[in-house]
Amino acid sequence: MSVWHISGGRRLSGSLAVQGAKNAVLPIMAASVLAPGQIELLNVPELRDVDTTVRILRTLGCGVEREGDAVNIDSRGLARSEIPHSLMRELRSSVIFLGALLARCGRARLSMPGGCELGPRPIDLHLMALRALGARIDERGGDLVCTTPEGLHGADIALPTPSVGATENAMLCACAAEGETVITNAAREPEITELQSFLRKLGAEVSGAGSATVTVRGGPLSARRVGHRIMPDRIVSATYLAACAAAGGDVELRGVCPEHFSTVLRSLSECGCDIMSKGARVRLRSDGNLTAPMPVITGPYPGFPTDAQPLMLAACLRAKGTSVFVENVFQNRFRFTEELLRLGARIHTEGRVAVVTGVQALHGAPAVATDLRGGAALIIAALSAEGRTELLDSGHVARGYERFDENLRALGADISRT
Ligand code: UD1
Repeated sequence: MSVWHISGGRRLSGSLAVQGAKNAVLPIMAASVLAPGQIELLNVPELRDVDTTVRILRTLGCGVEREGDAVNIDSRGLARSEIPHSLMRELRSSVIFLGALLARCGRARLSMPGGCELGPRPIDLHLMALRALGARIDERGGDLVCTTPEGLHGADIALPTPSVGATENAMLCACAAEGETVITNAAREPEITELQSFLRKLGAEVSGAGSATVTVRGGPLSARRVGHRIMPDRIVSATYLAACAAAGGDVELRGVCPEHFSTVLRSLSECGCDIMSKGARVRLRSDGNLTAPMPVITGPYPGFPTDAQPLMLAACLRAKGTSVFVENVFQNRFRFTEELLRLGARIHTEGRVAVVTGVQALHGAPAVATDLRGGAALIIAALSAEGRTELLDSGHVARGYERFDENLRALGADISRT
């Protein structure tokens, strides 16, 4: 358990290099077991979810070394295909090991994954895709026991929703399936394109990522030495910009892909922020006096990212007028708003919609981080509030942000963590 101590009211200014993307590195680490190989990943963020994934890889028999932002994975010694419940429950993306292990070993045994509490997060689409590829999946004592009695074969997989995780699982498993797999209504998130480029380095024939149709031509993968640099985190980028927008200031982010979060940039600019992006840099200037943006409606990429909704909402708490948020991806993604009320915010939620009426000022208060991005939203609000906030956090924020307090302090914030 940690406590964030934040004294708000300080402007943020300075320049920051943004960490590698959590949601890109986790499936890539899982993909590293697809074939016996030696993988060097660079720009790997230091996060609790990455540490847990390292532990999963070691449990499976892989050698894993970490040095600075580099993680070296030697998957030649992989000897097991089971992941214990204690590790599975720590993060949702552990479920991506299902496709990877089926591809490598032809079998896997793991329990239902954990992750953020954002309402029901089923894995039916993951299982549907893997079954279509030839996997037999039985539930035994809370575990998913997966085998491939007749081997894996290519299939047409039509996803009813463009699920990021199900697309990733299907892509990994299809790499070892005989013949062609076509995934339609695939997720189009940048992390899918990143996974495709890693899989190609492993020798897999994958195309179409970034569009709604991903095609994989499966076959045996040979042992390889592969190096890969993880793309920048678009949600972390959005977080620092939203914090600067709310608190006021002048912040430049380096090493980012602004086109990955253009919807967020558009909303922040509608709020009155002055935004300039050039190459891998984006600079945001805000006087802290924002105006409500056009309604923020989340959706699968290229829509407004659901993970950035709490951040944007926090930035709008003092914005002049009424800001409207429609959450189309996850139910229960407004739980964090109850905590924001403690800081003096005016928010009315009903089902998928949250309406924020801008207030003159927020005030510091004790609050609780309900989930990863909800916790970050509370920190953004606290940075723009008058007085002191103590945020109780059972480890949610550290799942997604590397050196968050240190980075915010470097920008001039008064924040510490005990
Ligand atoms: C990933 C991201 C998460 C992000 C989300 C949506 C990772 C590690 N996490 O999560 O940060 O918020 O994409 O951009 O990359 N669904 C089903 N059945 C399934 C799978 C999903 O009904 O089998 C539903 C979910 O409940 C949700 C929607 O599909 O309503 C989208 O979920 P999905 O894209 O799968 O999210 P994740 O991959 O879990």
